[in-house]
Amino acid sequence: MALVELRGVSKSFRKGDETITPLDDIDLDIDAGDFVSLMGPSGTGKSTLLNLVSGIDRPDSGTITVDGTEVTKLSRSKLADWRAANLGYIFQTHNLIPVLTAYENVELPTLLLKLSSTQRRQRVELALEAVGLSDRADHYPRQLSGGQEQRVGIARAIVAHPKVVVADEPTGSLDTETSEQVQVLLQRLNKELDITLLMVTHDSDAASIASRQLMLDRGKFLERGGDKESGSLGEREVGAGSGEDSVAIKKFG
Ligand SMILES: Nc1ncnc2c1ncn2[C@@H]1O[C@H](COP(=O)(O)OP(=O)(O)OP(=O)(O)O)[C@@H](O)[C@H]1O
Ligand SMILES: [Mg+2]
Repeated sequence: MALVELRGVSKSFRKGDETITPLDDIDLDIDAGDFVSLMGPSGTGKSTLLNLVSGIDRPDSGTITVDGTEVTKLSRSKLADWRAANLGYIFQTHNLIPVLTAYENVELPTLLLKLSSTQRRQRVELALEAVGLSDRADHYPRQLSGGQEQRVGIARAIVAHPKVVVADEPTGSLDTETSEQVQVLLQRLNKELDITLLMVTHDSDAASIASRQLMLDRGKFLERGGDKESGSLGEREVGAGSGEDSVAIKKFG
């Protein structure tokens, strides 16, 4: 069984008199350890899909199963707990809370988990270390560069040791160099921490770092490069370990 399974998923929205159906009877399997990029024209339903996979929104029909849990069946309160423990969300703009330090921003999702204060601190420190920002723990978002803020957002998304991380245009607001750094980081989190990633992007360079590239258009998926087993997807290794990035990321305990 795939880690993430969508079966017959449909989602429509009403806009005045009009009904639009961005996702129409969609099936998708994402295996554990996959790094999937998802491209497609604006308004095709990419963000909608991420919201469904992460249980922020519900489909009109169909089922979504993540690591054996049928997310579409969970009650609202169960869903909140499930999401806190199993799913990380990286946004285009990091959405950090300005009055909290980097450490406190990363700590926030762990407050929903049953952890001792020592375990909590270890998780936050490990996540900040994974994104190379241990030395910025006490900085407020305004004291960080855009790329550093995004890395704090990534640390926040992985701090609970989620099975799946979804990212909605994580490099969309970054300059080319910073975008490359974030791409390297995502690729390393996938390879070194075995985090399964589903990343929406409009940037074909960013998409090409994934092990599997999907297009969503008019309610259907197209797999770029065909058979994923063939390994012929043009998977790209970016920015071969420069300085601080070349230190191995510590495995989660
Ligand atoms: N809550 C909502 N209510 C009404 N319509 C919505 C809602 N959320 C999304 N839509 C509509 O559904 C369609 C798909 O939106 P979505 O945000 O998923 O697109 P997208 O592929 O992420 O686009 P972009 O690349 O511009 O981010 C759009 O037409 C959008 O206007
Ligand atoms: Mg979107």
